[in-house]
Amino acid sequence: MFLRNVWYVAGWAADLAPGQHVGRKFLNESVVLFRNASGTVGALEDRCCHRGMPLSEGQVEGDILRCCYHGLEFDTSGACTRIPGQDRIPSQAFVRSYPIVEKQAVLWIWMGDPALADPARVPDHPQHVDPKWGWRSDHFPVNGNWELLVENLMDLSHLGYVHAKTIGGNANMHFRTKTDAKREGDTVTVTRHMPNSVPPPTYVDAAGFKGNIDRWQEIEFTPMVIRIHTGGCDVGTGAYEGKREHGFSMMGFHGVTPETETTTHYFWSIATNVGLDRGVPQIVFDQTAFTFKEDQAVLEAQQKRISETPGGKFIDIASDIGSNLTKRLLRSLAETESQSVLAAE
Ligand code: FES
Ligand SMILES: [Fe+2]
Repeated sequence: MFLRNVWYVAGWAADLAPGQHVGRKFLNESVVLFRNASGTVGALEDRCCHRGMPLSEGQVEGDILRCCYHGLEFDTSGACTRIPGQDRIPSQAFVRSYPIVEKQAVLWIWMGDPALADPARVPDHPQHVDPKWGWRSDHFPVNGNWELLVENLMDLSHLGYVHAKTIGGNANMHFRTKTDAKREGDTVTVTRHMPNSVPPPTYVDAAGFKGNIDRWQEIEFTPMVIRIHTGGCDVGTGAYEGKREHGFSMMGFHGVTPETETTTHYFWSIATNVGLDRGVPQIVFDQTAFTFKEDQAVLEAQQKRISETPGGKFIDIASDIGSNLTKRLLRSLAETESQSVLAAE
């Protein structure tokens, strides 16, 4: 199941310099992203309308992307602007273009009905442009279904097991922590507070905590990104009254974009409020990447077993509350989409 009428992360804006292009698959559709010399980004069907050559094999020159086979040229709207050796351009000479928006260092693509693509609904991530935060990003391919990744991020009770060496800490503490989850409109939030707890190794390395901390995890899902604010302050110094500047904060951005039914693009960034002169402290970036590799291994192992056992049943446990609310939201969005498709037919 894919949701089509949502904004998905297509890539990091900085990874696509003028003159560059990249071919990627989203929701089983092959797309070529390119940035022309004027800086405009185009997202086109990666299939030349002449003989089907992938346009991602071609090259960007000036304002166009040129097919490598017979040289047809396309602009960012998908219109064919030149056919070598002839003056007339047939009206059918164009490729599908997808709405694409560049915002706060992220390229967002709309794979659904273009008439419904509202740039005002592109999710917000101000930490990418706020000088009080430093950040770094990466892109991991995951051999697992996208909903497994959503589930992983919405339920952090796995930290004490999967990530015991880095951001985890004590497994029992994670299961004892009260989890508040709620849905408002198209947003699900999960809040977990862990007062007077032992700081995990990453926090000590990055912020030098000497004793216990008041720790928080605040997760927000809005299609199709999950933002996770985590951190801690020395005990009793205001963490739960919103006074957090003196402590250690990490803001994670997790763009979950289906590639196929069983593979997913995981676009993530980590922002911190320490070490601003150096971006994110190297140790935080390295440990975050290490942590996500641990998740990647879990998701891939799950997918392998799930693919071997189609129709296999699952049970729910108490800590699934946030991920289950999210899955319910995803189901209702999918139903709305299928009803609107039926109505249109
Ligand atoms: S296949 Fe692209 S120009 Fe011929
Ligand atoms: Fe994880």
